Amino acid sequence: MRFPSDVLAVLTDPRTVIRDNRVHVPFQFELEVWRRMNAILKEMGAVWNNRKAIRAHVFPYRIEEFMRQCLAAGEYPSKYEQGWFPTPPSLTMQICDLAGIYAGMTVLEPSAGSGAMTSEIARRGGLVDAVELDARRVEVLREQGDARKVIAGNFLDLDPLDYAEGFDRVVMNPPFSNGLDHIKHAIGFMKDDGILVSVMIESLMWWSDKASVEFRAMVEEVGGEIEKLPDDSFAMCGTNVRTCLVFLPGYAGGPLRTHDWLKRQPKQLDLFDFAA
Ligand SMILES: C[S@@+](CC[C@H](N)C(=O)[O-])C[C@H]1O[C@@H](n2cnc3c(N)ncnc32)[C@H](O)[C@@H]1O
Repeated sequence: MRFPSDVLAVLTDPRTVIRDNRVHVPFQFELEVWRRMNAILKEMGAVWNNRKAIRAHVFPYRIEEFMRQCLAAGEYPSKYEQGWFPTPPSLTMQICDLAGIYAGMTVLEPSAGSGAMTSEIARRGGLVDAVELDARRVEVLREQGDARKVIAGNFLDLDPLDYAEGFDRVVMNPPFSNGLDHIKHAIGFMKDDGILVSVMIESLMWWSDKASVEFRAMVEEVGGEIEKLPDDSFAMCGTNVRTCLVFLPGYAGGPLRTHDWLKRQPKQLDLFDFAA
C-alpha cells in the first residue's frame, strides 16, 4: 500500500521522532492528514496513546528500522497484503550470519524489495547483485546504491548461464506464493561450494506435494536444514504469516544443479549443429 503523499511528508519530516516502538509527531498539522496517518499506523499495528507524557503511536515491537524501510519505499504492507514484506532487521542479521557473508564475496539477492538485506550485505563488504520486479522498489534500490548491480525484472526469467560465474552466496526472502520456484531457480546461480539461505512459508516443512517432498529430500541429502522461525518473526510487518529458514550448502560434485553444474552439462544443441 502506498503512503499518501501528505502522510509521507509528515512521517519523513525531520521533526518527527521514530524511535524504538514509537512514532511521535511533535508539531501541528491538518486534522484530516492526522486521521489518515492514524489509520495507516493502526493498520501497521500501532495504538494511539493519548497520555500527555507520551502522545505517540505505540507499536508492540521496535518499529524504527522497519519504518525506515517503509518510508524509503514509500509503501507499507497492510494486514491483508501478501506480496512485499521487508525482512525485519534481526532476521536479516540471522540470515547473513547463517550464510557467512564476508568482505569480497559475491552475493545474489533475487527478490530484493527495498533493500533490507542488500544494505546489510553491503555493510559486511559483500558485492551484491539485486533483482526486483516492482519498478518503484527498483528505484529505491538504485538510490540506496548498496548493490553492485540492480536488475529490474522477473528473476524467474533470468538465465543463470548469462553469468560467467556463480555467486558465493544467495540470500533471499522470495514472494511466499511461489517461493519454492524462486529457490529452485536461485540454485542455478550459486557456485558448487556456495551457500543459499532463504525465508520460506512454514508449510514447506510439511506439504506433501511432489515438489515439496523432493525438495526436503534434497536439503537432507546435501546436509542442509529447514528450521522453523518464531511465529512472530514478521509481526512487525503486521502479518502473522508463519515462516521457516532454508539453509542449503553446496559442495563440489554434489547433487545441486548449481551454476557450475549447469556449465558442466554438454551443450545439447551443438549435437544437432550439422553446419559446424
Ligand atoms: C517478501 S518481499 C522481500 C523483500 C526483500 N527481500 C527484503 O528482504 O526486504 C518479496 C519481494 O520480491 C519481489 N518479487 C516478487 N516476484 C518477483 C520476481 N518474479 N522477480 C523478482 N522480484 C520479485 C516483490 O516485489 C517483493 O519486493
